[in-house]
Amino acid sequence: MSDPQPVYLSDYQPPAYHVIHTELTFDLDPTETRVKARLTMQRHPSADAAAPLVLDGEHLSLRALAIDGQALSDADYQLTDETLTITRVPAAFTLESDVAISPSSNTALEGLYQSNGMYCTQCEAEGFRRITYYPDRPDVMATFKVTVIGDAQKEPVLLANGNPVEQGTREDGRHFVTWEDPHPKPCYLFALVAGDLQKVEDHFTTMSGRDVTLQLWVEKENLDKTDHAMASLKRAMRWDEETYGREYDLDLFMIVAVNDFNMGAMENKGLNIFNSAAVLTHPKTATDAAFQNVEGIVAHEYFHNWSGNRVTCRDWFQLSLKEGFTVFRDQCFSADTNSAPVKRIQDVSFFRTAQFAEDAGPTAHPIRPDHYIEITNFYTLTIYEKGAEVVRMLRNLLGWEAFRRGSDLYFERFDGQAVTIEDFVGCMAEVSDIDLSQFMRWYSQAGTPEIDAHGEYDYANAEYHLTLRQRTPATPGQPDKQPLHIPVRMGLVGTKSGQDLTLTLDGNKIGKDAVIHLTDDEQTFIFTEVAEAPVPSLLRDFSAPVKLHFPYSREDLAFLLTHDSDGFNRWDAGQRLALLALDDLIAAHRNGVEKVMDNRVIEAFRLLLTSSMDDKAVLAEMLTLPSEAYIAEQQPIVDVDAIHAAREFVRQSLALALRDEFLAVYKANVSDAPYAPTPEQMAQRSLKNVALAYLMSIEDDESVALCEAQFATDHNMTDVRHALTLLVHSDRDDVSAPALKAFGEAWAHDPLVMDQWFTIQVTRPQPDVLERVEYLMQHPAFSMKNPNKVRALIGAFAQNRINFHRLDGKGYALLADAVIELNRLNPEIAARLITPLTRWQRFDETRQQLMRAELERIKREPLSSNVFEVVEKALA
Ligand code: PHE
Ligand code: ZN
Repeated sequence: MSDPQPVYLSDYQPPAYHVIHTELTFDLDPTETRVKARLTMQRHPSADAAAPLVLDGEHLSLRALAIDGQALSDADYQLTDETLTITRVPAAFTLESDVAISPSSNTALEGLYQSNGMYCTQCEAEGFRRITYYPDRPDVMATFKVTVIGDAQKEPVLLANGNPVEQGTREDGRHFVTWEDPHPKPCYLFALVAGDLQKVEDHFTTMSGRDVTLQLWVEKENLDKTDHAMASLKRAMRWDEETYGREYDLDLFMIVAVNDFNMGAMENKGLNIFNSAAVLTHPKTATDAAFQNVEGIVAHEYFHNWSGNRVTCRDWFQLSLKEGFTVFRDQCFSADTNSAPVKRIQDVSFFRTAQFAEDAGPTAHPIRPDHYIEITNFYTLTIYEKGAEVVRMLRNLLGWEAFRRGSDLYFERFDGQAVTIEDFVGCMAEVSDIDLSQFMRWYSQAGTPEIDAHGEYDYANAEYHLTLRQRTPATPGQPDKQPLHIPVRMGLVGTKSGQDLTLTLDGNKIGKDAVIHLTDDEQTFIFTEVAEAPVPSLLRDFSAPVKLHFPYSREDLAFLLTHDSDGFNRWDAGQRLALLALDDLIAAHRNGVEKVMDNRVIEAFRLLLTSSMDDKAVLAEMLTLPSEAYIAEQQPIVDVDAIHAAREFVRQSLALALRDEFLAVYKANVSDAPYAPTPEQMAQRSLKNVALAYLMSIEDDESVALCEAQFATDHNMTDVRHALTLLVHSDRDDVSAPALKAFGEAWAHDPLVMDQWFTIQVTRPQPDVLERVEYLMQHPAFSMKNPNKVRALIGAFAQNRINFHRLDGKGYALLADAVIELNRLNPEIAARLITPLTRWQRFDETRQQLMRAELERIKREPLSSNVFEVVEKALA
C-alpha cells in the first residue's frame, strides 16, 4: 500500500459540475440503511464539455445508478475506494443513485452513525461522502429536500435541516418526515437525527419581529439539563442582532444532544448537533466551568449560521475563515455576558500554554496551511484560537466601528457564497483604507513570533527609548521568516505617580494607552516629555499572539501588579513574578540545594488577599500559579519533576505563610444561596475554591475537615468536584477513598458525571496512577468507542505530567497502546490522542528515546491517514 498523499492549496480548481438541488431519501436500518439520492446537476459554463464527473464516496455499497432516468451499466462508470467517475455526462442532468450503508458499524463517527441507539450524522469536513456519492467539497452549494423513513416505535422523532413539510405513515407501517432547507448549503452542513428523543421548546422574536421556534432534543433522562443551553441560545441570538446586526433566517432552530461525538458540537444548518458534554448542565452534575463552556459553544454554533453557513469556505484550507472569526465572536459574547477580564485571562492562559506548544512542535502549521494529508488533523488550536487572535488584531487595528462595517460588507457581498480569507481581509481593508498586505503574513507564516524588548529612561532629556526586536523561529517547511505587522498596545506607568503617563511619540500626544506598530525586524520608539521614570506595560490585553521578553526586575513586576491600569497585564505581572521565583526553585531542586521561598511573592499575595478587589473572579485568577504545562513552556528542556516539586513548594510556602488570610477568604465566601450560574456566584465560588486548594496543600486536619464538609454539603457540582479532587489528590486516602467510592456509586447512571470521576482519579500526583488508569479502562462505565471517555481517562492521564512522563516509559506505552487500538476504531480521535508524544524534543535524552520508541512502534502498524500524518511529522 502506498503512503497517503497531501492535497495542496495551490492545486485548487473550481468544480466542473455543481449540484443545484439535492433530494435524499433515507430508509433507516442499523446495518443496511438505504440512501437514495436525486441530484440536479449542471456543468459550470467555463468547464470543458468533456470533463468527467467525479464524485466522492467511501464505504458505500452501490445498488443502482441512473442519469436522466436511464440506468447506467457497469461499463458506464468506474468505482474506486474513494470515487465514482462517469466519463461523459450532459451539460445539465439528474443523477440518481441508491446506496446501502451500515450506521451501527460506523465507529469513526463520521457520516451516518448510531449513538446510544439513535441515528445521527457528522459531515464536516468530509463525512458526507460516507452517506452518498457527491461532490463533497464546500464550494458546491445546493438546496436540500430530505425524507427520513424510520420505525415509529424506535425512531419516533425524525429530524433534518430546515422545515418539516410533510409527514405520514407508509403501507408497511413505517413513518416518515420530509424536510426542506431553502438555503443553498455545502453538504458538510447536512444533518439527520432519528431516535427516541424528547424536546424542550421555547421561542425567540427576532429584531424584525419574526417568531422562531427553538427546540432542544435530548434523551428523556436529560430533560432537566436543558435550561442553561436554552437561555444561552436566546442570549446569543439577541447578541448577534445587537452586535453584528445578524438575524436568524429559518422558522425553526434545533439543537440535539448525542453521547458519542468527536468534537464539541456542529453547526449544521438549523439542526446543530452537540456532544452531550457541550450542552447538558444541571447544578448537581455540571461545574461552573462546564456551564460557561456550554454557553460559549451554544453561542459559537449559533454564530456560525452567518460566519460559516450563509458565507462559507471555498475549500478546507480556508477553515480559519469561519472558525477564527466565529471563535472571536463567541469570545466577545462570553466577555460581554460574564467578566471580560477573566474571560481574556482564561483564554490567553490556555492559548499561551497549548497553542504556543503546537506552534513550536513538529505539527506547527500556518492559520492557512498550504497542504494537508487529512483535514480532520487541522481542527487545531492554530486554526481556531490563533485564527481568532488574528481577527481580534484586525478589530483592534480598525477599531470596532470600521470592523463592523467590514463585517457588514463581508456578509452582504458574499452571502450564499463560498469564499476565501482574502475576501474577508479585503473587506476590512476596503472599509478602512488600511494596507493589510503585510498583515496577511499572519495567515501564511507558522510559529510564534518573539519580541525582545528593552527600554531606557533618559533623565536628562525626559525621554524613554523603547526598542522592539522581532523574530519568528523556523518551523517545519518554513526555515526563513519575514517580519510581521505586530500591534503592541502599551502604556508607561510612572514610578512616582503610579499612573499611566501621557505618551508623546514623534511630537504627537497619542494618549495614555496606545498601540504602536512593530513592522520591521527592529524599531526604536522614542517617547518624549516623560516626566518621571516609568515601568513599561507592554502588549496590554495580549494585543498580539506573541511571546514578549522584557528584562523586568521583581520590583518592576510587583509594581505593575498593583499599579497597571490594564487588568490583563496586572495578572500577567503576577504570573511573571511567580515564574521568576519558580525558576530559582527549579534550579535549586535540580542542584540539590535547599529551596528558599521568595518573600516578594508572599508579600504580593498577602496584598492581594487583603485588598478589597471587587472582581473576585479576577482575584481568583491572580492567586492561581502558572500551570506546570505553562512553566514547562518557559524551559529550554523540560524537567518534569523539578517543575512539579518547585510548584508544590511555592503552593505550600504560600499556604503556610498566609494560612489565616486564605482561611478568612474561604469563610467569607461560603454561601448557601441556591445555585445559579451567574457571574457573581461563579466568581465567589472560584475565589473560595482557590483558597481551599491552598489550605489543602498543607493537608492539616482542619483543611481536610473543611474539604470533607464541602463535599458532604453536596451543594452543587462545582463545590463537590473541587472538594473531591483536593481530597483524592492529597495523601489522605483514608478520607478520599470512601468519598470517591460513594461518588462513583451515586452517579453510575450519569455518563457525564462518570467522566469527571475518571478524570479526578487519573490526574492525581501519586505514583499509583498508571495502574489506576489500567484498572479503570476495565470499568463498565468506560468505553474506547466513546470519545468523551477516552478524553476523560486516557487524555486526562496524559496531562498528568509527572505520571505520564514516568522514567520507566510505561505512561508512553499506555498511550501508544490506546492510539493503536483507536486507529482502527476512530482515526480522528487516535490522531488527536498522540499529541503529547509528538512533543518529545522538549524533554531529556532518556525520555526522548522512550517517546520516540513508542512513535516508531505506532508507525509499524497499518495506519489510517490521520495517524500516519501525525506520526510522520513527529518523527521527521
Ligand atoms: N465546525 C465545528 C465547530 O467548530 C467543529 C467540528 C468539526 C465538529 C468537525 C465536528 C467535526 O463548531
Ligand atoms: Zn466552529
